[in-house]
Amino acid sequence: MPSRRDAAADLELRDEPALLYEPVRYVLRGGGKRLRPVLLLLVAEAFETEPEDALPAALAVEVFHNFTLVHDDVMDGADQRRGRPAVHRRWDTGTALLTGDLLLARAYDLLAEAGETTGADPTPLMRPFRRMARRLCEGQALDKTFETREAVSVEEYLDMIDSKTGALLGAAFELGGRCGGASPERAESLREAGAALGRAFQIQDDLLDLTADSERWGKPVGGDLQEGKKTFLLLRARERVSEDDVSADARALFERAAADGLAPDEIDDARRHMDRLGVLGDARRAVARHTDAATAHLRRALPGGENGTAEDGVAKDGAAEDGSAEDDSAVGALRWLIGKMQARLH
Ligand code: IPE
Ligand code: IPE
Ligand code: MG
Ligand code: MG
Ligand code: MG
Repeated sequence: MPSRRDAAADLELRDEPALLYEPVRYVLRGGGKRLRPVLLLLVAEAFETEPEDALPAALAVEVFHNFTLVHDDVMDGADQRRGRPAVHRRWDTGTALLTGDLLLARAYDLLAEAGETTGADPTPLMRPFRRMARRLCEGQALDKTFETREAVSVEEYLDMIDSKTGALLGAAFELGGRCGGASPERAESLREAGAALGRAFQIQDDLLDLTADSERWGKPVGGDLQEGKKTFLLLRARERVSEDDVSADARALFERAAADGLAPDEIDDARRHMDRLGVLGDARRAVARHTDAATAHLRRALPGGENGTAEDGVAKDGAAEDGSAEDDSAVGALRWLIGKMQARLH
């Protein structure tokens, strides 16, 4: 495979109707880290599947992800994505909905193709994808519900991100394994790795929303607090401040953030209070803990790990049977990538 080719940007598309295919091109050629397909390909490789063969499944996941982003920006009223105007701002809401719909349809086409290229039974590919799509929509609905609900616990928030973010990462890992005929036990560990990584990834997303450099982040900083989103940071801050008598101002600020959202000139204040209350440190530790959990699940799931046997598409020629160097290098590569991706900057 040519090393610098971006197969998602190169996806074959019609030209007409331009109202549809222009924004679709805009989305697919607008950057993005391609994290999920790369994870899928790395897992597939660990299961001895050639990247070319796993490519349609990887593309299915990336195209689906792009669909969710286009609709997510409509739902969140977000102005920017990947450092450029969101589709519904560059065009309009109807165009954004249709663009998302087309991407969703293409994702399912690509998944059908994946069954053909890997020679894997298509059912074990379709089932996790369908379940993921349902869970992701449920997660998005919960996220919205939480915006207007007064009390949300950190536990409820974590359940919500398991759906809105973890399900897709879990599907990327699982499909990578399924392309190589992974056993149901390994598939389960791969899904768990995705859920743990989803938590790390989304908490990091919440953290970067407040701490990143706006230009490199590609979005205005403090957007979540302005929108009144109940992020990990805000939920922890509300817990912490109620245990802390001296911060009446901070309590009022956080309550307002949760109820109506803050004004742009209040973001610095909110960040300072969160830092003082140890909330930012808490978030960083949570990211590290969930990343470690994801690695542990991966170690179990990948060839040489404790789940499954040599017959389930693993270690076909005896490689990594003893959980040695090969296993470590696959987990090592994934761990390295996960570390990189946590920076998530453009
Ligand atoms: C953004 O995901 C959506 C979240 C789940 C937070 P990414 O940060 O992977 O988005 P791109 O594809 O690289 O833009
Ligand atoms: C994104 O959550 C989750 C999905 C798109 C399914 P966010 O709304 O937090 O993502 P960003 O911050 O807009 O990328
Ligand atoms: Mg959003
Ligand atoms: Mg959202
Ligand atoms: Mg976010």
